Amino acid sequence: MRLLDAELVETREILPRQWLQRYRAPWLAAGARAGQFVHVRTPDYSGLVLRRPISINTVDRVAGEITLHFRIAGKGTELLARGRPGDSVPMLGPLGRPFEVDPRTHHVLLIAGGLGVAGVRFLADESLEAGRQVTLLFGAATAGDVYPSTLLPDEVEYVVATEDGSLGQPGRVTDLVPAYEAWADQAFACGPSPMLAALAALAAGRQARLGVARLGRKRGTGRPVPLGSPQARRRSWLQVSMEQHMGCAVGACLGCVVWGVEGPLRVCREGPVFAAEEIAWEEPA
Ligand code: FES
Repeated sequence: MRLLDAELVETREILPRQWLQRYRAPWLAAGARAGQFVHVRTPDYSGLVLRRPISINTVDRVAGEITLHFRIAGKGTELLARGRPGDSVPMLGPLGRPFEVDPRTHHVLLIAGGLGVAGVRFLADESLEAGRQVTLLFGAATAGDVYPSTLLPDEVEYVVATEDGSLGQPGRVTDLVPAYEAWADQAFACGPSPMLAALAALAAGRQARLGVARLGRKRGTGRPVPLGSPQARRRSWLQVSMEQHMGCAVGACLGCVVWGVEGPLRVCREGPVFAAEEIAWEEPA
């Protein structure tokens, strides 16, 4: 983890109020893993605006570049979106714990709600590089909010649901999951908390529905591993990347705490990626 200036190389609006920016940031490109994030100091230096946590969207290790995908959600991100190529933006990272993919996993299911696609996009690249098959299930309110397929590698199977039925399957992204739960060796999700809670409930009943565990062995059996460890996440069928407001992003302020089954968890330090069974979910609406 280092704090350095990244140079803005390219910036464009890819959806209404959502921006994709490419930065030259060799120290991030070299070490980042899918699921990690950066803490970005926005160009408002009044001292009133905190840094913004933004998922690392993609990485080009050869060019030493990363992309960030964010939504304008206040003054800080509005100023960030106004940046021009050549601007310097201080970034702290890479931060947080990454997704952990079981080496035996062949079929990777990514599940994203809205801007949550930024949390799993990097994992699509990592998975394809490792020779895995990738399906991305994406949910949005309406067609105008759907993540452009042109921003995905051709090898990714892309399935869309919209709540108003204007594109893809009518309904929520969670409605798409049952058709893929037998195919997927592991699933990785990012999006609003109610969506993640609904997915956790689906995942909890999956093994009973399918009758047998995938990958030729029963998950959760064998030598016990501590909850919260990389090994525990690797064994989990569903990993979730939690979105939370952050202050310090380094574990000091407790501004990002969520409740786990064994007590409070800091999203910035113990997360943002968790095994679904680590979290004490509220009942899905
Ligand atoms: S943001 Fe300060 S502890 Fe996580």
